[in-house]
Order: sequence, then C-alpha cells, then structure tokens
Amino acid sequence: MLEIPEERIEKINAHLLSELHETVGANEKMMQAMEYSLMAGGKRIRPLLLMAAADAIKKGSGENFLTFACAVEMIHTYSLIHDDLPAMDNDDYRRGKLTNHKVFGEANAILAGDALLTLAFEVMLRQKNVRSSILMAAVEEAAVAAGASGMVGGQATDLESEGKKIDLPTLKKMHLCKTGALFRASIRAGAILAGASSDRLNALTRYAENFGLAFQITDDILDFVGDEKNLGKPVGSDERNQKSTYVTLTSLEEAKKLSEEAVADALEALKIFGDEADFLRDLVKFLLERKK
Ligand code: IPE
Ligand code: IPE
Ligand code: MG
Ligand code: MG
Ligand code: MG
Repeated sequence: MLEIPEERIEKINAHLLSELHETVGANEKMMQAMEYSLMAGGKRIRPLLLMAAADAIKKGSGENFLTFACAVEMIHTYSLIHDDLPAMDNDDYRRGKLTNHKVFGEANAILAGDALLTLAFEVMLRQKNVRSSILMAAVEEAAVAAGASGMVGGQATDLESEGKKIDLPTLKKMHLCKTGALFRASIRAGAILAGASSDRLNALTRYAENFGLAFQITDDILDFVGDEKNLGKPVGSDERNQKSTYVTLTSLEEAKKLSEEAVADALEALKIFGDEADFLRDLVKFLLERKK
C-alpha cells in the first residue's frame, strides 16, 4: 500500500513557491501565469521520485536535494502548459483548473512555459551541498531529458502520429521519450546526487524506464476510462485528437497487461535493494490502481 508522503509534498510545494519568488523584477502577469500552473496541485511524482532515488542510495539524503527536485517539477509543469495549448492537445482543464492559456491567453501561456523551463536550470544551479562535477552530471541528465531526444522530441512524434497507425515499437519509443525521459532524469539525477555506484544507477535506470512506460500507459487508459473529476483533466482528449495511444493501438485489456509487465520489470530491477527502496516499490505498484 502506498503511503502518501504528505509532509514531503508540503515541503516541495513550499519550496517551489520560494524558488519562484526568488525571481525579481519580472513581468507580473507572466509571474502570475507561472505560479498559477506551478501551484495548481500536481501530484509531485517527479520530485518525490528524485528524492526517493537519493534515499535508496543513501538513507535520509533525499531531503538534501529538495532544490533540484523542485527544478524538475518546473520542467514538468512547463511541459503541461505547452501540451494543453490549442496547437497541441487543445485542452481546457488541467489539475482541476482551467488551463493556463484559458486564463492568461495563449501568448502568456507560451511565455510562462518558457520562463519555467529556464528557471528550472537556474534553480538546479542553486542546489547546495554537492560537488560541482556531480551537480553538472545531474544537470546534464535534466537537460538531455527535457530536450529534442527526450520530452520535446517525444511530443513532436506524438503530434506527428495523430490520425496515423504507428507500430508498437514506435509508440513505445514515443512514450519513453515524451513521458519516460523526465522520470528517468528525475530518478537518475537523484541517484547521481546521492553518489550512486554504476550498478545501482543502472538498476534505478531500468526501474525508471519501466516506471515511465507504465505511467504513460495508465495515462492513456485513464484518458479512455477515467473520471474527469478525479483526474482534473479531460477524458477523451486522445480520441478527439486522434492520438496514437496504447488503448487506441492495442486494446484496453492489452494496455493493462503491458502496464502490468512494465511494473513487474520495474520491481525486478529493484531486487538488489533492500527496504531503502520500499517507497519506489510502492509507488510503481500504485500505478496499476491510480485514478488520478
Ligand atoms: C501528466 O503527468 C502528464 C503526463 C506525463 C502523462 P502527471 O499525471 O504527473 O501530472 P500532475 O503533475 O500530477 O498534474
Ligand atoms: C503528454 O502526454 C506528456 C507531456 C510531455 C506533457 P499527454 O498529452 O497524454 O498528457 P496529458 O494526458 O495531457 O496529461
Ligand atoms: Mg499530449
Ligand atoms: Mg495532453
Ligand atoms: Mg494523456
């Protein structure tokens, strides 16, 4: 059973806000747009994973990397603002509230996203208590994952695949990029910051890739059979946009089976860890029953 780490989520929320408010002299409307989406109540899974990966490497070290963890959440939030834009998925609700462009207008939403992405790298560089060579390696993880060969590239393939029948290996690659890359970077960055050995880093990487895949398959399932009130975002968006998803390209049953397989593989990857990885175990198992 997953025990929601409420206290840690509160720390993440408070720190996100304080990092955002470090920005001085910026355009006020844009700052409001940034804060609106950042504080709209996301599940904070990526920062939680980053800190949990660090804890799995060095017990109790997760808290030290709150700053870096918040930076990753900023990248994620920017990706959601842009994902919802009319030129992309054209969705009206996110995190239970109107999407950013619905409130602030398209241009401001684009700029708020740009600013959150840039701020994320500023915040990463504010991470204290870590050797600069290690911090550089963690920043590189985030940069590569956010960019052309990671999330943004996956989003491009997602749009290109609308109305088409792509094959399953292409779909898997797309999911591993658009969603998996940021999960992978969160977990790898947490492990790297905590000083992981290469065998432990490899094991966590395998866990992360399977986590990302299972996460996006369940996202596809929830877009098909979920409940809008729980999700805080529209159901049926994928169908409306003729997206290529695990549900549309296989079936609901097959999609469930494939997400179960990914979860099993993620758990297998954690075999070399003891109870220090229990939260990671519980979180990936939770994907199979999540409703939001
Ligand atoms: C939604 O991510 C976007 C995908 C990658 C599928 P989350 O489900 O983690 O969204 P929030 O952060 O909780 O709103
Ligand atoms: C996009 O996937 C994932 C991102 C990189 C933002 P979706 O388009 O399926 O995400 P939701 O369902 O709108 O959250
Ligand atoms: Mg999308
Ligand atoms: Mg979307
Ligand atoms: Mg979706």
